[in-house]
Amino acid sequence: MEILSERFAPGQKVDIYFSIKNQEIDNVDFGFTTRYHLAPTTYTERLANNKNMKAIIRTGDGGPEVLHLGDAPTPQPTETQLLVDVHVTALNRADLVQRRGGYPPPPGESEILGLEIAGTVAAMGSAVTGWTEGDKVFGLIGGGGYAEQAVIDYRMAMRIPDGWSFEHAAAVPEVFFTANENIFTLGRLSAGETILIHAGGSGVGSAGVQIAHRAGARVFVTAGTATKIAGCETLGATAGINYKTADFVAEIQRLTNGEGVDVVLDFIGAPYLARNLAILKTWGRLLQVGLIGGSTTEIDLGTVMRKRLKLIGSVMRPQSLEEKIRITRRFVERWLPALKAGTLQPVIDTVFPLAQASEAHAYMEANRNFGKILLFCPGAKRTDTLVGP
Ligand SMILES: NC(=O)c1ccc[n+]([C@@H]2O[C@H](COP(=O)([O-])OP(=O)(O)OC[C@H]3O[C@@H](n4cnc5c(N)ncnc54)[C@H](OP(=O)(O)O)[C@@H]3O)[C@@H](O)[C@H]2O)c1
Repeated sequence: MEILSERFAPGQKVDIYFSIKNQEIDNVDFGFTTRYHLAPTTYTERLANNKNMKAIIRTGDGGPEVLHLGDAPTPQPTETQLLVDVHVTALNRADLVQRRGGYPPPPGESEILGLEIAGTVAAMGSAVTGWTEGDKVFGLIGGGGYAEQAVIDYRMAMRIPDGWSFEHAAAVPEVFFTANENIFTLGRLSAGETILIHAGGSGVGSAGVQIAHRAGARVFVTAGTATKIAGCETLGATAGINYKTADFVAEIQRLTNGEGVDVVLDFIGAPYLARNLAILKTWGRLLQVGLIGGSTTEIDLGTVMRKRLKLIGSVMRPQSLEEKIRITRRFVERWLPALKAGTLQPVIDTVFPLAQASEAHAYMEANRNFGKILLFCPGAKRTDTLVGP
């Protein structure tokens, strides 16, 4: 038989059609006409690539209707990666942007949506240490979460604590990492300071409110409904401002006796920039983490100079693996103990079956969630994953 791998470049996608009935090829019995993609790996691994899993496939760029449950090749772990049977994954606002055709995955990452997973270890690369098959694992990934299997570098993988459900674990990584990095590593919020967190009812906001409050800061939020504001107050916010009915600048000045705040965590962007700068105290820090409202505007830089302000932006996914490993460690050291003890909790709004990813996206796009929206995989036992700590 012709060795096809010598005719094509590694990575080149080639459909191969076999019509061999009950023939053994490298110990694999195809038994029917099939096809697979050549990858820059060994022949045996390429055969393994032929295995399909259920995953959410994007049929184009667009609205939630472009998401469908379909088949995709199972990912192959590199030598430092775990292959994980995903029980639960989570939505992030960035997934909506990627679905519409923006925020492409960094080179080498899966095209499948999904930035965090909780599940069990199915297999692993040769350089992985400390993990065995069947271990319960959760963590942040560069893509590929909306699927029955995904890969994660073992240095970013975290062991699911005893008593946690897969839902509980899947709701943690992206929002707690983002909140910790921005509020503390970059924003240097300290006890006794004051922070305004916009979109306090978002996934990131619900984590940020809790950790800022726990660190001894005074926390204000904005949100679009009274229910979300009440939810934020339960999580530790001192007060909330409904941005649809009140001017948050005037409200912050009133709530702080005209002093303003030390830190602002903002996801809205252009329409809020000048107002965020206006409510910061001297030496204040603005963390720009999202651009839901737009990215282009004009500001008076005099405000930045006069008040010696810092405007800091960051995005999680494009950062290097080494940086993301450090981000994981900082979270594990500072906040995982409180999450294990139950004094911090991920806020879970709704759990959809993976097949309803489209409905879940529409739900997030309508701003209906307070906290996280999760997707559970077809293979996962729903009853095993319902109970939190
Ligand atoms: N840079 C990073 O590393 C990083 C990482 C993770 C997330 N993020 C960003 O963080 C933000 C939150 O993400 P998430 O997944 O937690 O979001 P989410 O759960 O979908 O929540 C977003 C909330 O923002 C509010 N909102 C929407 N449009 C708004 C507008 N025009 N003006 C004011 N508020 C508006 C809505 O709440 P209301 O009902 O209160 O309006 C909505 O529920 C997103 O911008 C995301 O891209 C950044």
